[in-house]
Amino acid sequence: MKLSGAQASPPRETATAAKIISRNVTKIYPTVRGPMTALTDFNLDVADGEFVSVVGPSGCGKSTYLRILAGLDTLSAGSVLIRPGADPRKPLNSVVFQEYAVFPWKTVIDNVAFGLEMRGVARAERLETAAYWLERVGLRKFAGYYPHQISGGMKQRVSIVRALANDPEVLLMDEPLGALDAQTRIVLQDELLRIWEETRKTVVYITHSLDEAILLSDRVILMTAHPGRHLATFEIDIPRPRTVETMNIARFAELRGAVWDLLGKEVARAMELQT
Ligand SMILES: Nc1ncnc2c1ncn2[C@@H]1O[C@H](COP(=O)(O)OP(=O)(O)OP(=O)(O)O)[C@@H](O)[C@H]1O
Ligand SMILES: [Mg+2]
Repeated sequence: MKLSGAQASPPRETATAAKIISRNVTKIYPTVRGPMTALTDFNLDVADGEFVSVVGPSGCGKSTYLRILAGLDTLSAGSVLIRPGADPRKPLNSVVFQEYAVFPWKTVIDNVAFGLEMRGVARAERLETAAYWLERVGLRKFAGYYPHQISGGMKQRVSIVRALANDPEVLLMDEPLGALDAQTRIVLQDELLRIWEETRKTVVYITHSLDEAILLSDRVILMTAHPGRHLATFEIDIPRPRTVETMNIARFAELRGAVWDLLGKEVARAMELQT
């Protein structure tokens, strides 16, 4: 296990292999009590086809960073770049949030096809793509249902495959399984693993679950408590393919212990900052 905690150390990937390049990302929010630094000098490069998770205490700026990457929020300083691929029609990113962001007035299949519709893909082609993705997550027979007719777990599957159907250069996920019950969450972790190991999308994944971060990722990035900055990087050297059973192996427990050793202290510090 390689552990690099040094903020000043150069990012691991060289610029040639990186799909996402973030340099000194800083976000200062104006508030009634004056400027509030949410994120400071955060550096992260993500290689093409890499799955990277970001974990850190609540309020450390994880969602802020993801929103900046997605172009939904602005930077106060620094820079982010998502390298476009060869196909100019591909969207740069798709985002999956914790809340079930599905359109209640659209059927399941039309929800999944939405991004393609926005890009002007012909109806027959986009329905074919959406049907393929619904099949992949066992929702084919719910294609004509409306969101209120399916469960929370199913809605989140719809959000995830909608993002995948879009075939973005990078997939940005902010606690996508955070609202699910424990059992549904495990089923979706397994599905995400299976799909990712086939598609090898470049993913930035935010989660509060260390198990989830270690299980899914090639690399886990720890952030400090508020204001957020880089604390440490863990390479997850557990071979793939992985399944939820992988959580039972000795190396998993070892990595989990090492991550928690640092993160636990940081969470405690964050709680002290709040009091
Ligand atoms: N629009 C805003 N205006 C002012 N402050 C904000 C705004 N959005 C976020 N913040 C503050 O910035 C900090 C980082 O917020 P952010 O939502 O990025 O944290 P997070 O790491 O995603 O937390 P959590 O784990 O609870 O989701 C927090 O202190 C938050 O209160
Ligand atoms: Mg958040």
